[in-house]
Amino acid sequence: MPTELPDSGVPPTTRTPSTSSTLSRRAFIATTGVAASGAVVAPSLLGTADSATAAESAAATAGPGGRVSLTVNGARQTVTLDNRTSLLDLLREHLGLAGTKKGCDAGACGACTVLVDGRRANACLTLAVRLEGAEVTTVEGLAGDKLHPLQQAFIDQDAFQCGFCTPARSCRASPASVRATPRSAEEIREWMSGNLCRCGCYVKIVRAVQQAAAQGR
Ligand code: FES
Ligand code: FES
Repeated sequence: MPTELPDSGVPPTTRTPSTSSTLSRRAFIATTGVAASGAVVAPSLLGTADSATAAESAAATAGPGGRVSLTVNGARQTVTLDNRTSLLDLLREHLGLAGTKKGCDAGACGACTVLVDGRRANACLTLAVRLEGAEVTTVEGLAGDKLHPLQQAFIDQDAFQCGFCTPARSCRASPASVRATPRSAEEIREWMSGNLCRCGCYVKIVRAVQQAAAQGR
């Protein structure tokens, strides 16, 4: 429990007694010298205490671990994780697949969209340990030796600026575009509505999806 200083800001132990005016110069130096050395030593002691406290705190808050085996972009992966790890953190922090972006980390922006068993999913809201046996596809897995037609369409239509939203958008659009039937602009806007684009490339994004859909991809 922290001890509050009195209004004077001087700790009680170092407060000058009412007889201070009678202190000798030697006694004054001895008193302030002890106080000064205390000020130097205290931070190092506090640092040690802080480190120990942080370690204890981390140990206390560490959740139970779990083991999960899943397929990511065609490769079998078996990992042991804190049960609270999201699929997004599994991809980015454990598997080094940084193509899937972390925007809001709260299910609002769609920047983390991937495919789980062929269906769109917000990776930030998906617990990794629940994906035993699942097949996950990220933007890194969309392309083979050459770009996925949808990715090529994004380039052809100049459908991005910074590109932050493009990986998730490619995953989001692909289940729609692989269906042979081209969709109307309105349907595509509805389909893509969960993915925000800070750069405002929505018109060209619709054109890119239409281009890929027209190719039956
Ligand atoms: S990072 Fe997952 S929805 Fe925004
Ligand atoms: S291209 Fe920049 S966020 Fe969409």
